[in-house]
Amino acid sequence: MNVLVTGGAGFIGSAFVRMLIAETDWRVINFDKLTYAGNLENLAAVAEGPRYRFIHADICDEAAVAAAIGEESPDAIVHFAAESHVDRSILSPEPVIHTNFRGTFVLLEAARRAKIARFLQVSTDEVYGSLEQPLEATEDFPLNPSSPYSASKAGADLLARSYFTTYRLPVVITRASNNYGPYQFPEKLIPLMITNALEDRRLPVYGDGMQVRDWLYVSDHCRGILAALRGGRDGEIYNIGGNRSLPNLIVVRQVLALTGKTEALIEYVTDRPGHDRRYALSSDKLTAETGWAPLMDFENGLAHTIAWYENHRDWVERVRSGEYRTYYEQNYGTRSLAH
Ligand code: NAD
Ligand code: DAU
Repeated sequence: MNVLVTGGAGFIGSAFVRMLIAETDWRVINFDKLTYAGNLENLAAVAEGPRYRFIHADICDEAAVAAAIGEESPDAIVHFAAESHVDRSILSPEPVIHTNFRGTFVLLEAARRAKIARFLQVSTDEVYGSLEQPLEATEDFPLNPSSPYSASKAGADLLARSYFTTYRLPVVITRASNNYGPYQFPEKLIPLMITNALEDRRLPVYGDGMQVRDWLYVSDHCRGILAALRGGRDGEIYNIGGNRSLPNLIVVRQVLALTGKTEALIEYVTDRPGHDRRYALSSDKLTAETGWAPLMDFENGLAHTIAWYENHRDWVERVRSGEYRTYYEQNYGTRSLAH
């Protein structure tokens, strides 16, 4: 197998590339633009290997995509590349729409022309929008995205599906819940809270902190994507959830307990506009069809993640260079205290 992975230098994409190199004999081509979120350090363990190639390019660049597919004739494309952060999508929607929607279109067109045998679109539970307790989204649930990010992902999903319906491109879509684990960029809740707590900085909790997310360890997500890539049916959607729903405040308190810090570090700040209150997923379809199930429990996964950040302070320092500070000021500097 020859697999083209887009966004393989990001958090989940790099975990997926490392897993493929370690656990299969496949050739892996990583196609990544290296935005602020892309980091080749995440791939140091595999970079020199003969089954890995890196292409530094933009998925919106039709010529670069066509050249990569022409040179490598991949059997499958696994499409992770995206602007993945909701807060950034609220501050500046344009790059989010461009990469997540237009970029997916460019890849689908190239895949159609090259008759790629499998196109896996990596998507998110955010496309279902906020769900009242006790609802859980199954794959046929209506789409109700709230942010520019989730709307761009929902649009890309619909476009990918249309390529199956119209052109019979063998598309599979996976929709995962909130990931956490090593190498996550410290703009997302868990790594932001860990890195701030380790340095005795304030932990900014949006609104009342009672928004619920379903936490999925990154390697469980990657195993789910691989299961769908191998065993998923053409044109189908598969949810991948962690089966561990928690209010943000509980997550933040667990981070404080595991880092030995006090709740005095918590700062309630202005809520995210359009903030979805609760996500919840059923992954029964993927489990029934492939046998996949999440393996990591949240307490162990969180402890392991905290240990990783404690032991990788250089990595954190490097990714929090100038651009991160500008973003942090933009997103948090204008938020007032909620209490
Ligand atoms: P990330 O932000 O850590 O990484 C994104 C990667 O895509 C980076 O390496 C970046 O350089 C690359 N990229 C961005 N724009 C590009 C472009 N135009 N061309 C080529 N490469 C580009 O993201 P992540 O958290 O690893 O998420 C990966 C995918 O998984 C995304 O599609 C996201 O929507 C989806 N997802 C994420 C989560 C989560 O909790 N993080 C949950 C469900 C689904
Ligand atoms: O659900 C899957 C999605 O999970 C993915 O599709 C996205 O790519 C990923 O970024 C993530 O989106 P969220 O918006 O849920 O993740 P984030 O880590 O930004 O926020 C998680 C929750 O924590 C959310 O309710 C907002 C809250 N939060 C976040 C940050 C960064 C805070 O209270 N304070 C913060 O500083």
